[in-house]
Amino acid sequence: MVFAAVFAGGIGSRMGNSDTPKQYLELGTKPVIIHTIEKFFINEKIDEIIVLCPKAWVAHTQDLIGKYLPSGKKISVIPGGATRNGTLENAIEFIENNYETDEKTVIVTHDAVRPFLTHRIIEENVEAALKYGACDTVIPATDTIVESENGKMISSIPDRSKMYQGQTPQSFRLKELERVLSSLSDDEKAILTDACKIFSIKNREVYMVSGEVFNIKITYPYDLKVAHTLLKGKDCND
Ligand code: CTP
Repeated sequence: MVFAAVFAGGIGSRMGNSDTPKQYLELGTKPVIIHTIEKFFINEKIDEIIVLCPKAWVAHTQDLIGKYLPSGKKISVIPGGATRNGTLENAIEFIENNYETDEKTVIVTHDAVRPFLTHRIIEENVEAALKYGACDTVIPATDTIVESENGKMISSIPDRSKMYQGQTPQSFRLKELERVLSSLSDDEKAILTDACKIFSIKNREVYMVSGEVFNIKITYPYDLKVAHTLLKGKDCND
């Protein structure tokens, strides 16, 4: 079985002082989160969808799903965690408590605030997770990446041709993900906020699926303006 876990548990502090987390802001005719869920809803590789959001927003999220999406594919809405990793753990626990799982069970994890993912990206994630156990969605870095230890002076400038920017989805064979997570110490858990980083630190291979430049994450108010413009274009709406 293939599960999509839509991560909507954040509060969007970098968007400013809004009472409404950014995933619920309107983008065109519907909230950002609905655009994202829709992509998984209509993709045939995805069997079921789990949406993880702040506890206080569970009922509202269910209402939105009822309003904008037809019935057909099962969508569960559950509370996310205090951290992004906590949200991932809640998704895993929910799947384990409610379904029969095996070595072929796949979880495609995706930021609710990246509404422009494509069906190609979803399908390549599912294939790569099954084949390699873990995959990340990335694009080649276009700007030179500069590293600084102290935030004032450059410590190093890595070779740009080897640099990529991480997006989502990040996808895993569920059992493999559980094994790697359970191998972490509490200290490691506190520091490691990225599931693919956890794999690579534990010397597990993580395959790179090609993302898209337009698969942006809405982080700042400017990104929402860009998203409105992208929505009017065609390429990212297929
Ligand atoms: N996320 C989550 N659970 C958390 C924190 C974040 O599911 N405890 C989700 C967010 O809802 C978002 C995605 O992870 O869809 C990417 O995170 P980010 O852009 O950092 O979102 P926020 O944490 O909401 O933003 P900010 O850091 O500005 O508060």
